[in-house]
Amino acid sequence: MRLFVILVFGVTFIELVLCYIDTQNNNFLIKRNTEEEKRYKPDWEDLDKRPLPQWYDQAKIGIFLHWGVFSVPSFSSEWFWKNWQDPHGKVALFMSKNYPPNFTYQDFAPMFKAEFFDPNKFADLFKKAGAKYVVLTSKHHEGFTLFPSKRSFSWNSVDVGPHRDLVKDLGEAVKDALVFTIHCMNEQTYADTKLWPDIKQLITDYQPSVLWSDGDWEAKDTYWKSCDLLAWLYNDSPVKNEIVVNDRWGIGIPCKHGDFYNCADRYNPGRLQNHKWENAFTLDKKSWGYRRNMEVSDVLTMKELLNHIISTVSCGGNALINVGPTKEGTIAPIFEERLLDLGKWLKVNGEGIYGSSPWSTQNDTFNGNIWYTCVKTQYDAMNPTAIPSESDTVTAVYAFFLDWPETNTLILANATSLVQDYWRIQMLGYKGNYLDYKLLPNDRVAITLPGLEHVKSENAWTLKFVPPYSVSVVL
Ligand SMILES: *[C@@H]1O[C@H](CO)[C@@H](O)[C@H](O)[C@H]1NC(C)=O
Ligand SMILES: *[C@@H]1O[C@H](CO)[C@@H](O)[C@H](O)[C@H]1NC(C)=O
Ligand SMILES: *[C@@H]1O[C@H](CO)[C@@H](O)[C@H](O)[C@H]1NC(C)=O
Repeated sequence: MRLFVILVFGVTFIELVLCYIDTQNNNFLIKRNTEEEKRYKPDWEDLDKRPLPQWYDQAKIGIFLHWGVFSVPSFSSEWFWKNWQDPHGKVALFMSKNYPPNFTYQDFAPMFKAEFFDPNKFADLFKKAGAKYVVLTSKHHEGFTLFPSKRSFSWNSVDVGPHRDLVKDLGEAVKDALVFTIHCMNEQTYADTKLWPDIKQLITDYQPSVLWSDGDWEAKDTYWKSCDLLAWLYNDSPVKNEIVVNDRWGIGIPCKHGDFYNCADRYNPGRLQNHKWENAFTLDKKSWGYRRNMEVSDVLTMKELLNHIISTVSCGGNALINVGPTKEGTIAPIFEERLLDLGKWLKVNGEGIYGSSPWSTQNDTFNGNIWYTCVKTQYDAMNPTAIPSESDTVTAVYAFFLDWPETNTLILANATSLVQDYWRIQMLGYKGNYLDYKLLPNDRVAITLPGLEHVKSENAWTLKFVPPYSVSVVL
């Protein structure tokens, strides 16, 4: 999908994450010595030296919202307007069949009413889902802004449509509970006159903690003046201690620079990455914006969703889960159900997700759909995806599995040294004792699971390996 976009469209997206975090817990922010604060030079070499604020590495789960005028036709995808340019495409056909001949894309805007939008309901749902940050499209390719941009007169959600500052309303509702993000995208962007003034307005007025940029494939980072903006963000912005940015800052930059990498849409490499990254994917497999003709088979199942999350976190990533709200300001019940089920799952299994780090193995060599994480006491802000080193204290290792073995026996290759060192095995969501195991030849361990009916979890389960003594053990 992204490649298609690169070739065809001349646009720029900028997504911003507005995030409110517990500033009393300084551990989550970049610690700064006020006497001698590092100032970043506007070049990648220096910008790449910035430590990753810990809150982002610990958060693991975010919600992405694609919302805008494209939510009115809610057909095809959020690229509705662009796709309409193709006179033989399905969007043009849809328009000629259902709308008067002179109907323009702009005519959809007054129909974007968001009349049922209750930001507290959104915030409550995302909190129940176990998300720690929320990303909202503040501006997509159509140029319509969900905040009163001073450079988008009569083409923003305050002047037309909902007549509300949606960025502000959602931002205030998620405050204290979640990190809030904005996504935005420009049709014709001029770095000096439009893009940076809009971004600086967003950063100053809403104080986000993530700036999620997109549409960078149009031009080089030097055209966007990306390094200058980032140096301002890191040195002088009101969110300089907690802000994190992604990697879409110009041709050739994705997967190379940024606090975290998105690389491509739905990037999920299945291997440990040596830089913090994020898997942005969507519950409706076919679109980021809401589609009225979505079918249940288009929606990720709970197992698929958990598979994404578990493999992503195990390899050092965060999961950014997209849903498209409707033009009325609601979230489709099928998405709501997935998110609530995710929250239930995380209540039981989340201790191996939030605040975890990659372990020395990601997926088990014998049983490849079993994914490991660990919890270690030290946070390495310069290398947050590093596996535990000799000097690290590991307090638990987690193994997530998505298929319950019919024999109730789970065989692992990479947990053998743990049990040989007398680490004990628990099951999250199971009230019983430590699990029994047997060492097998060829360095495998067979773990006896309790009956499935005794475990309070569905679709994916978690073993927890704990050191033999209550004091932490050095690996
Ligand atoms: C469409 O617009 C043209 C030019 O403004 C006008 O002549 C025509 O009558 C319009 N057609 C309809 C169906 O409104
Ligand atoms: C996982 O276990 C296999 C089999 O014992 C072993 O060959 C492999 O090196 C282990 N992987 C890691 C990363 O330790
Ligand atoms: C580990 O996961 C990757 C990515 O999903 C897969 O290609 C590989 O086969 C898995 N390893 C094993 C041993 O199954």
